[in-house]
Amino acid sequence: MTMSASLRLLVVDTDQFGAAAADAVLRRLPAHRPRLGVATGDTPIPLYRELARRHACGQIDLRTALLIALDEYVGLGPDDPDSYATYVRTLVAAPLGIGTENIVIADGLAPDPDLEAANLDTRIEALGGVDVQIAGIGSNGHLAFNEPGSAWESGTRVVQLSEQTRQDNARFFGTVADVPHRAITQGLGTISRARSIVLLAAGTAKSAALTAAVSGPIDPHVPASMLQRHPAVTVIADRAAAAGLSLRGEHR
Ligand code: PGA
Repeated sequence: MTMSASLRLLVVDTDQFGAAAADAVLRRLPAHRPRLGVATGDTPIPLYRELARRHACGQIDLRTALLIALDEYVGLGPDDPDSYATYVRTLVAAPLGIGTENIVIADGLAPDPDLEAANLDTRIEALGGVDVQIAGIGSNGHLAFNEPGSAWESGTRVVQLSEQTRQDNARFFGTVADVPHRAITQGLGTISRARSIVLLAAGTAKSAALTAAVSGPIDPHVPASMLQRHPAVTVIADRAAAAGLSLRGEHR
């Protein structure tokens, strides 16, 4: 089993997941006006809780950080409780004392979603790019909403969500019928320009995808395998997600 030399893998117990992720993110985040790429979903919640805890006890100050979101559902506006804008505002920004003016996210209600997507790429570039990108992985190997088959150089764009992804995310919506069919996602090319990436994976459902992504061939059918091409990636996995990996390199 091969693993990219530049990819650092930490396997941690569930109760250490948030702290290990927070350490990995903070280690690479510049002190001055950091640009933090934020993922949504369940997996990063322990990380955001840990950052909030450290903020509350004065250990860190991220109030000047820019939060740049990976994706948003087309059709859900910033006030929709299921939008990623609501997630970033309530679960990341507010607990860290970061104002909403410092959140960069596509508007799911933009009248022209394609233009909105292209504008997001331009904005990210104008801001100087992302210092540390937090990412999750889909059970189908997707990275952000770059579903299998996405081009390595893809920019931010409107995508159709796969049925697997809609099923996986139905838990946030009640029924799968309520899950939007389209999203605006940063492209694999966009994500690859982040200076460093911290990929988080937890639970048995991610094991096959994580194994394929970090130790299988670099293959567009496993979009997260793009991480093997990036020079500065840290993967934090719990023991269930890492079960399929033969552990080499740094882990604990
Ligand atoms: P999850 O989503 O953290 O909610 O499992 C990850 C993803 O789909 O990228």
